[in-house]
Amino acid sequence: MNAPTRRRILVTSALPYANGQIHLGHLVEYIQTDIFVRFQKLRGHEAVYLCADDTHGTAIMIRARAEGRSERELIAAMREDHLADFAGFRIEFDHYGSTDSDANRRLCGEIWRSLRDKGLVVSRDVKQLFDPKAGVFLADRFVRGTCPRCKAADQYGDACEKCNATYSPADLVDPVSTLSGATPEIRSAEHLFVQLEPMQGFLREWTKDSGALDPRISNYLTGHFLGEPLRDWDISRPAPYFGFEIPDAPGHYWYVWFDAPVGYIAATDEWSAAQGGSWKAWWHRGGTNEPAAEIHHFIGKDITYFHTLFWPAMLEAAGLALPTKVRIHGFLTVNGEKMSKSRGTFLLARTYLDHLDPACLRYYYAAKLSGDIDDIDLNLEDFAAKVNSDLVGKVVNLASRTARWLEGTGLSETYPDDGGLFAQGALDGAEIAAAYDDCDFARAMRLVMAAADRANAYVDAEQPWKLAKAGPESAEKLREVATVALNLFRQIVVYLTPVLPDLAAETGALVGGPILSWEESRHPLTGVPVAPFKPLARRVEAPQLEALVAASKPATPPSPLSPPSNLPSSGNASVTTDPAEPLAAEPLAPQCTIDDFAKVDLRVARILAAEEVPEAKKLLKLTVSLGGEERRTVFAGIKGFHDPAALEGRLVVVVANLAPRQMKFGLSEGMVVAASGAGATGVYLLSPDSGALPGMRLH
Ligand code: MSP
Ligand code: ZN
Repeated sequence: MNAPTRRRILVTSALPYANGQIHLGHLVEYIQTDIFVRFQKLRGHEAVYLCADDTHGTAIMIRARAEGRSERELIAAMREDHLADFAGFRIEFDHYGSTDSDANRRLCGEIWRSLRDKGLVVSRDVKQLFDPKAGVFLADRFVRGTCPRCKAADQYGDACEKCNATYSPADLVDPVSTLSGATPEIRSAEHLFVQLEPMQGFLREWTKDSGALDPRISNYLTGHFLGEPLRDWDISRPAPYFGFEIPDAPGHYWYVWFDAPVGYIAATDEWSAAQGGSWKAWWHRGGTNEPAAEIHHFIGKDITYFHTLFWPAMLEAAGLALPTKVRIHGFLTVNGEKMSKSRGTFLLARTYLDHLDPACLRYYYAAKLSGDIDDIDLNLEDFAAKVNSDLVGKVVNLASRTARWLEGTGLSETYPDDGGLFAQGALDGAEIAAAYDDCDFARAMRLVMAAADRANAYVDAEQPWKLAKAGPESAEKLREVATVALNLFRQIVVYLTPVLPDLAAETGALVGGPILSWEESRHPLTGVPVAPFKPLARRVEAPQLEALVAASKPATPPSPLSPPSNLPSSGNASVTTDPAEPLAAEPLAPQCTIDDFAKVDLRVARILAAEEVPEAKKLLKLTVSLGGEERRTVFAGIKGFHDPAALEGRLVVVVANLAPRQMKFGLSEGMVVAASGAGATGVYLLSPDSGALPGMRLH
């Protein structure tokens, strides 16, 4: 292949914490990185995709304790889960390590030596909150208390969500440890710091001029951090801490964010050793006879400083190669909002795989990612529509409506006149490749879909199904049309191979063999057999998405069929955060007067009988009592959410003076009041507190 220009590209994704499962937010990053690496490999470059679990720190220690097992048992189990999830999404690492490895301990030691030798390490006492019951120093997020500024209760140890004040945990009023409930004490302990200010000049220059950062990021860093003296970086934690003990400071451990990025090098070390090479070929600056390697870090915006200030400073001090690119992406929102457990939009990788094809998410993310830092939204309706229209309707459809005509004959012996379509597609290759190389996958997908549109227009115009009916004299023409369509299809699939490796493999099995190189988009195939067509993609249907959301809700959701509880909700109301979605989806109606309201006569009523209306999907027929002999028949759209038998006898609220309405099934003489809306799928009846009687009016 293009030997002279063969690039050596080391690519990493941020190391996922071992204290949680992989979710669809993480996957924005791992899918993005995987697409980039697969693209580079398809182009013939030497690309290596490295990652590892990030295993150290307080959170792991606490979780292991809570689960009654050792940290190492916990991280081993989590690793299995992570690897299974990544494999499920076809994320293909060349090596997946762990920060809790011998290689990492050794490399941390080497970098530490360099920092010491340069005189960059200083020691200072730090006052920190200590939980006397749990016996640990408390990270900020394990302390809650009253905001010292606005006095809001139940705020985190470092910042107030109400007034946005930031403070030190020691300033919190009435602090409480969330681990044990104990009142933390302030204790002083020695910490080691890396001085960053001596690196200020280097960091300024690297940030601005290296080309590693998007200008938006470098401007931000220059404006917000690099203007002022850089604070020393606290990189040690006193025992007990799950991590590596610092060799020349017994009883002190490297803070997790010190050993985590070194994990990138440790993974390189383990991978290289398995190939009989050395990590130095990738991380040393020149000096070796290999051409210098590129290093690309893919990360989310939340961990920008670690990768654009601390990490380059460490590498510089250790004399190691600096990142060629730090590629920063935004955060995932689902249906326009932060992922939320209560709404069923905190979507775990595993849950997704239980309901849907990984290819759909890979395609959807590709279509959304343009290489910048903007957040990306997974709107579930849009997701279904996009996958169905592009993947199924445009791409796979090309093969599904033409391949079968070639089963017996194979492709035509010479490539037919296609009006220049294949040549046009081959020309597009350079632009599509440039978009991939830039991580502007959205643009790459648009170009590919435009090619698919042209190919489908060709098939529509040639109408092979008519040729097939026309008999033997059209057989050759039919073969030609199908040959063109299948070649255009395969060309498109070559371009989609980084995103859709499964589709690429299945396409190779259908015609032409495995897709191994981008160059395969340049020349049409002729005279080769075509295998029997097998379905290549399935539509995303609404019930799958509903099942995904339902399976993502907390384990004990209030069942819509369970009897209603008239008790006020228990628990601490200040810690429940209700979703904003229902109100946002249905904004408040225009203001009305008390007189307007008085026109609507709302009454308490008792359901006497409830029966299904067989012909109506949603309706139950209810007979309600307003007290005494006063009865009404109302049809309520609550079928499926309520068991009719369980409704009999309960109190509800009805609009008692609504004009009667003749329906197909009978006269409806009112309306039962119920709540519904975005964020939940149910219809929820209203009930008065106990003691209310049928006929009472709501004021
Ligand atoms: N362990 C650190 C990284 C150490 S790198 C030396 C970490 N882990 S993480 O599990 O919290 O996140 C891993 C990556 O996933 C990060 O780049 C993070 O930005 C990304 N994402 C986590 N949640 C995300 C979303 N909701 N949306 C997009 N990316 C997200 O940070
Ligand atoms: Zn406050």
